Amino acid sequence: MGEVLTAVAPAKVNLVLEVLGRRDDGYHEIDTVLQTLQVADRVSIANAGPDDPRVEVTGPWRSGVPADASNLAWKAVMLLAERLKRDASNLRILLEKHIPAAGGLGGGSSDAVTILRLLARRWPEATAADLLDVAVRVGSDEAFFLTGGTARAQGRGERVTKLPSLAPHGIVLFLPPATLERKTARLFERLGRLPFDDGRRTAEFAARAPDPVRADQLYNSFERVAFDVFPGLGKLRDAIESRIGTRVRLSGAGPALFWIGPLPVRDAIAEQAAGLPCEVVATQTAA
Ligand code: C5P
Repeated sequence: MGEVLTAVAPAKVNLVLEVLGRRDDGYHEIDTVLQTLQVADRVSIANAGPDDPRVEVTGPWRSGVPADASNLAWKAVMLLAERLKRDASNLRILLEKHIPAAGGLGGGSSDAVTILRLLARRWPEATAADLLDVAVRVGSDEAFFLTGGTARAQGRGERVTKLPSLAPHGIVLFLPPATLERKTARLFERLGRLPFDDGRRTAEFAARAPDPVRADQLYNSFERVAFDVFPGLGKLRDAIESRIGTRVRLSGAGPALFWIGPLPVRDAIAEQAAGLPCEVVATQTAA
């Protein structure tokens, strides 16, 4: 089988996210502060035998993850191989999924970037600029995962500035059963009918993050439309907030909701949500 290279690919939440306007290229200008989490996929690259599948997806959250050419990690492999004139036909990638797919937690993007890092060990001529170029072509969240920790992302998400790491915080993720096709594009389209945000909240948070961070100090432009777009999400949010007695926020374009606060109270928060129609995952921030 040859050498297998493995690494962890962390999830993220957007602590603050503002959509500032539409761009000429069809994307939107955003300003956001992101944070990586301890909950993570385990991803590997290995040599492929002639009959091996190119992409193999396992793990508790494998449902909904494509194992074909639309997989973001596979796209990243193909783009880097093309750029470096390398042959990727003898490679396979293994994704052990612990991050729910299409929830706003960046799992697919994180897998793609972590696979790029592993490839750079196999193809040592790959420079940091090669990885960034490929990452940005795979998607808008990818550049952040090259930095990780606490960071601000601007432009369409590709202009990343590292921020001082947040002190460790507890995070509880609430994952509704269903997501939607093309949900990110749909949420951006819906937001485009409303006045855009001005970036003030993100700038303030980036300049001085509150300590400890609480959900009611955070902001996400997508919350203005997500509760109309995802069926049942508003009701779920209300049920969670009344159980735990405090606010939760949407991550990215959702539908994952999260609580953030002091680590010692995290498990009590997760227990209070038991029995609600969502999966509950207790984790924490990761530098
Ligand atoms: O870049 P990514 O593939 O993750 O984005 C999915 C879709 O979300 C894009 O095709 C685009 O419609 C929308 N998008 C946007 N502005 C961004 C990021 C994404 O309009 N900054």
